[in-house]
Amino acid sequence: MIGANTLQEFVVARQAEFAGATGDLSRLLTDIGTAAKMVNRHVNSAGLSGILGTHQENGQGSQNVQGETQQKLDVYADDTFNRVLGSCLKVGGIVSEEQPSIIHVDHSGRGEGRGYGKYVVCIDPLDGSSNVDVNISVGTIFGIHRRKSPLTQPAEATDFLQPAKDLVAAGYVLYGSSTMLVYSTGCGVNGFTFDPSIGEFFLSHPDMKYPEASTVYSINDANLDTAVPGVKPYVKDCRSRGLTARYTGALVADFHRNLIQGGIYMYPGSTDKPEGKLRMLYEAQPLAFLANQAGGSTRCHLHDLLHVTPTSLHQRTPLFTGHAEEVQNLVQAMDAQTLHV
Ligand code: AHG
Ligand code: MN
Ligand code: MN
Repeated sequence: MIGANTLQEFVVARQAEFAGATGDLSRLLTDIGTAAKMVNRHVNSAGLSGILGTHQENGQGSQNVQGETQQKLDVYADDTFNRVLGSCLKVGGIVSEEQPSIIHVDHSGRGEGRGYGKYVVCIDPLDGSSNVDVNISVGTIFGIHRRKSPLTQPAEATDFLQPAKDLVAAGYVLYGSSTMLVYSTGCGVNGFTFDPSIGEFFLSHPDMKYPEASTVYSINDANLDTAVPGVKPYVKDCRSRGLTARYTGALVADFHRNLIQGGIYMYPGSTDKPEGKLRMLYEAQPLAFLANQAGGSTRCHLHDLLHVTPTSLHQRTPLFTGHAEEVQNLVQAMDAQTLHV
């Protein structure tokens, strides 16, 4: 039986714990919940509403700034989040996986007439989008920073290029066998399950923490031979200790399972792609923030990802995240290889 707390009630109740909180972040978080409901409806009926497959522009498949083919649902989710966040007075700018540069949100001339909002949002509107056509889970990932530049001016790149430890909030939505929204404002991680008959997210997973021990490791096996030194022996070690392999191809789904069941997610750099595939601002950083809040840890190369200051908006990074003990085991395996080079 799901508890009585809706996402909105919970967010507002938690706001009271922060001295001087104005409610601006609460408003932004509940707006993200609203956009998630809209995307959820489309994901759930994608086969019926003709939105499976690749997005077409001028008779050709379109690509995002990173040269990746866009699915129709990538474009729909991007439009939806940008529209909802763009009308939220608290948002001053957005960086989306699907957009080449910062989306500036100017509220001057609107009711409260205050120029640009004080938060910036980094978002992967639809994560794992190649799963849509085969009916496997997908997600949304978001991170929220407080702006550093004056609110009278458009947001600048430096507002987004902050370390993950300085995020004000981060979270994800998992469109799975049920739809969940999981978020943290730095006081633990809480998960909410969507009840479609009522149209609300209800608190179902309070104070999420990694369990004592791990049972799962997640990596794309096809990348194992070219992965940076240390990853392959570590995976062998996982197998010998009885961990099982699970990998859906949607980072959100793999991260969520590993948080609940105990496990580690790895997308390493490789000989041909030293920075791996995943993006720092809207994939790695929000999940590193959540992992830390749930008692886990995150590395990129050998550094603690929480403390890394990004240098560009669509920067890629290797990602190792999950149960702290497993991340530590991996680091030891990588260290040992480095010492032998
Ligand atoms: P996106 O759909 O937002 O581009 O993200 C896909 C990502 C991530 O979700 C997943 O873990 C990873 O790509 C899978 O990559 P491989 O197919 O290379 O394993
Ligand atoms: Mn993604
Ligand atoms: Mn995506």
